[in-house]
Amino acid sequence: MADLQNLSLATDGSILTITINRESKLNALNTATLAELKEVIQSVYDDKEISGVILTGAGEKAFAAGADIGEFSELNEMNARKFAEEGQEVFQLIENSHTPVIAVVNGFALGGGCELAMACHMRVASANARLGQPEVNLGILPGYGGTQRLTQLIGKGRAFEYLMTGDMMDANQAQSFGLVNYTEVDKEAAMAKANEILAKISAKAPIAIGLVVDCVNAVYNHDENGYQTEANAFARCCGTDDFKEGASAFMEKRTPEFKGE
Ligand code: COA
Repeated sequence: MADLQNLSLATDGSILTITINRESKLNALNTATLAELKEVIQSVYDDKEISGVILTGAGEKAFAAGADIGEFSELNEMNARKFAEEGQEVFQLIENSHTPVIAVVNGFALGGGCELAMACHMRVASANARLGQPEVNLGILPGYGGTQRLTQLIGKGRAFEYLMTGDMMDANQAQSFGLVNYTEVDKEAAMAKANEILAKISAKAPIAIGLVVDCVNAVYNHDENGYQTEANAFARCCGTDDFKEGASAFMEKRTPEFKGE
């Protein structure tokens, strides 16, 4: 992997933490950061040693305060569709990853930052988190999937409210709306919670975990019959060594040892 300028990576056991490292710009997502994120997530797809990923922002103030508004002056009607589609592609890579990705939302997650958190499989917030889609304040709307994922996560009425007012929600509101899974007192506690969830998942059969991602995402793909996707995934799991191991371990009253095969 090329030298990373905007992200830092840390591995603890089988858990990879990706930190957006532009603290002076509240971790705003410029195109270089998105390109690095794409590269790192693609490498996660190929790395069986990684059982889970935490995505967070450097410092205590922001997860990511949006796309980098400094780059917006270059946008026009001709090039903006590509700009949006390229961001959407990176976020879809995260959403479709068979390795679980948890966003630790440590402060502002606005615009593209909120969209990035929503592309992750789960979100754990620190108490100072502020989430929202303030694009209307700039005369635009979300372009990295925010209109879709916010509606999926908090429902149509609330999504309209937050997309149209640009208001931020605090961590407790976000949790009550189902946008974040947990709210913890601070970033350290949020990281610990995300690690705890990923450690639990890492003891399960990786093929089943990956197929859960496909099945849940199928709910939102109108071209796909999610029940068929589920039946196919169930059949695929039943052909794995891990299924034999899981069933035998239960009968023998021992902890299963899954191998991802
Ligand atoms: N893009 C580029 N730079 C950003 C940014 C963004 N989305 N969000 C914050 N920054 C930069 C600021 O320009 C400032 O840089 P500077 O010190 O070189 O002037 C630095 O980050 C700190 O931000 P600042 O606004 O001074 O912090 P604050 O605590 O007063 O306000 C926010 C925090 C999040 C409320 C405010 O930064 C903000 O509204 N950001 C934009 C959010 C947004 O609209 N996101 C959606 C973009 S589509």
